[in-house]
Amino acid sequence: MHDQLAAWDKKYIWKPFTQMKEYQEQETIVIERGEGIYLYDRDGNAYIDGISSWWVNTLGHNHPVLNEALHRQIDKVAHCALAGLSHEPAIRLAKELVEVLPPGLGHVFYSDDGSTAVEVALKMSFQYWVNSGRPEKTRFVALEGAYHGDTLGAVSVGGIDQYHQVFRPLLFEVFRVPAPRCYHCPAGCRPDSCDCECLEPMAAVLEKHADEICGVIIEPMVMAVAGMYVYPAAYLRRLRALCDRCDVHLIADEVAVSFGRTGTMFACEQAGISPDLICMAKGLTGGYLPLAVTAATDRIYEAFWDDYDQGKTFFHGHSYTGNPLGTAVGVRNLEYFREAGIIAGLQEKTVYFQQQLQRFCRLPHVGDVRGIGMIGAVELMADGEKRQPYPAGQRIGKRVTDICVRNGAFLRPLGDVVYFLPPLIITPPEIDRLFDIAYRAIEQVTGS
Ligand SMILES: Cc1ncc(COP(=O)(O)O)c(C=O)c1O
Repeated sequence: MHDQLAAWDKKYIWKPFTQMKEYQEQETIVIERGEGIYLYDRDGNAYIDGISSWWVNTLGHNHPVLNEALHRQIDKVAHCALAGLSHEPAIRLAKELVEVLPPGLGHVFYSDDGSTAVEVALKMSFQYWVNSGRPEKTRFVALEGAYHGDTLGAVSVGGIDQYHQVFRPLLFEVFRVPAPRCYHCPAGCRPDSCDCECLEPMAAVLEKHADEICGVIIEPMVMAVAGMYVYPAAYLRRLRALCDRCDVHLIADEVAVSFGRTGTMFACEQAGISPDLICMAKGLTGGYLPLAVTAATDRIYEAFWDDYDQGKTFFHGHSYTGNPLGTAVGVRNLEYFREAGIIAGLQEKTVYFQQQLQRFCRLPHVGDVRGIGMIGAVELMADGEKRQPYPAGQRIGKRVTDICVRNGAFLRPLGDVVYFLPPLIITPPEIDRLFDIAYRAIEQVTGS
């Protein structure tokens, strides 16, 4: 059975973000169970879930409180439509979210995952302007290096050539502007001299083309898939002011960073701003079930409010919109965040996490160490001082994380960036162990 499963895995599954030819040569790790920050394979080997199973898990695996919420709901109803009907978990989760969201975001639209949350936001923003008598506002502004998901609208606003370039003929055009990737600052600034100069091209596009633009979409505080580039809160505050001045929506894609990842419930809180539309998914159910939300301001909601024959309805939805199992877990997840003081508990832990992360600065082939909250990243360079990258073909990042997996820490690279995004419940000794495994793997691969 052991080998049979591994053979079927390779024969029948086409894996995400995977060159299947390469995967044929790799060992198949079949996960059997999870507990806290650990995943266990069928041979009993334990792996620290160093990336929270693609950034979704917050409270750990097999959490008794979330399990119980799921059991309770499954004995009632697993799914029913949300159009024409409603159910308690979806109602409660919407209400509770509005209470914790940045101010002004009063209306919750459910979908299935981060990409669909982004599709909803783009379509809402677009139709808002149609419904408001400004149909000439049809375009979006997006950042170089942005990642917003893999459906075609999300790919259109995405800016990672390796993933997105091949699909360009299928996509809509956007205004693309330089991003606040501080280590590779597009304006050539250093953190100590930065005055958000990189916002200037964004400001120029907005001032010149405001009449054509629906909205600006950004990943608040951290450009995640690009390589966990953390940028200053001042950037967000100034962007908020620019969007207000030019009357365009600010769309915050918090799919990767909401629910405590940056140390606050939502990353926008760090800048004290409220976007017009906010997208969340991943941590919404603590990493249990696919569920997403796009929340909108009253102003946006009201532009869709009219008699049916006025044609202002938002015609969008998915079969599993607002699924009762997902929303039931989502409600319990939010309650548990409150009861267990998860956000308050992060204050000390994030300091420890960020301090310990600094150990990677000692390694000669580390160009940059950056982080925020419970996110940390180490960018590997052939020559750190000259900022000379390794040739892409060397797959340095992948070689490092392959060793980490063999040594008990499940990590995946973003190019030559090795990053850490563990469940929020990780303890200081577990943080040490995760970093130790990665440190030794980097030493081994880079020969330092
Ligand atoms: C910022 C951001 N937006 C959207 C997505 C897409 O989410 P999903 O993979 O759930 O579709 C991701 C996924 O990593 C993301 O990081």
